[in-house]
Amino acid sequence: MKRNKVTVVGAGNVGATAAMRVAEKELADVVLLDVLEGVPAGKALDLMEAAPVEKHDCKILGCTNDYSQAKDSDIVIITAGIPRKPGMSRDDLLSTNMGIMQKVVKEIASVAPDSILIIVSNPLDAMCHVAYDVSGFPKQRVLGMAGVLDSARYRAFIAMELDVSVENVHAFVLGGHGDTMVPISRYSTVAGIPIPELIPPDRIKILEDRTRTGGAEIVNLLKTGSAYYAPASAAVEMAETILKDKKKILPCAALLQGEYGIHDLFIGVPVKLGSEGIEKVIEIRLNEEEKKALHSSANAVKGLVDDIKRLRG
Ligand code: LAC
Repeated sequence: MKRNKVTVVGAGNVGATAAMRVAEKELADVVLLDVLEGVPAGKALDLMEAAPVEKHDCKILGCTNDYSQAKDSDIVIITAGIPRKPGMSRDDLLSTNMGIMQKVVKEIASVAPDSILIIVSNPLDAMCHVAYDVSGFPKQRVLGMAGVLDSARYRAFIAMELDVSVENVHAFVLGGHGDTMVPISRYSTVAGIPIPELIPPDRIKILEDRTRTGGAEIVNLLKTGSAYYAPASAAVEMAETILKDKKKILPCAALLQGEYGIHDLFIGVPVKLGSEGIEKVIEIRLNEEEKKALHSSANAVKGLVDDIKRLRG
């Protein structure tokens, strides 16, 4: 059987950790690409040397600007771009990361025209727009990693609060990957029990606020960059779901064209992920307050998309 191929663009902390997880889960051979000389090759070689101990036979190849190595990838995880520093919002990265995203996606679209793109670079929802426009791929094959990360944070905080297994906890976070994201407590459960039955409202609010600012909490601790273990785990869960055609329902940034009353915007919603990419957008019923929060998050994303148009001139 031919092994799958996943290209990871950006050999920084998120990219290298994603490459490691893909290989260690034996999901695919990995190509790790970066603009830096030596770094992708060095990290890839280091990971290859860990393989005998970790017991996998996936190949990890690191290269500098050589997009021909990404030829015919099944999935391309794009992490390239600068991360934020303390005091910065994800939106402050827009103009720098937009230029990087345009270059990367142009190259990828020509060597791997049938691939599925998982966008990780920030500001996430806006970067999905750039990738979608530049690639010309159908909307099913361009998706953003944010909801899995934001819900993983919410799940971790719920599990800590109740001192229960993380495996018992499911949670939904919708909307853009920014301060306006929308954790939905009614649809967040522990062993099937909605959390409002288990946690008092004032504590839920604290957990939701911590989820919204989860990325900044890590940036403020690290000082030199942003989170990478959980972002890499989240991107790899999406890749695994696609490669194994598992048809899991995961919150991802998807291009909405009328769903949830939102038009032509990438925004985090639950989707069914399988070998075709986004196979279905799941429309859950939202109450008035949740709808309002989702639409205000969509407006924040729209503001950034308008900025992209202005920057492009
Ligand atoms: C975060 C960054 C990766 O949320 O967006 O940690």
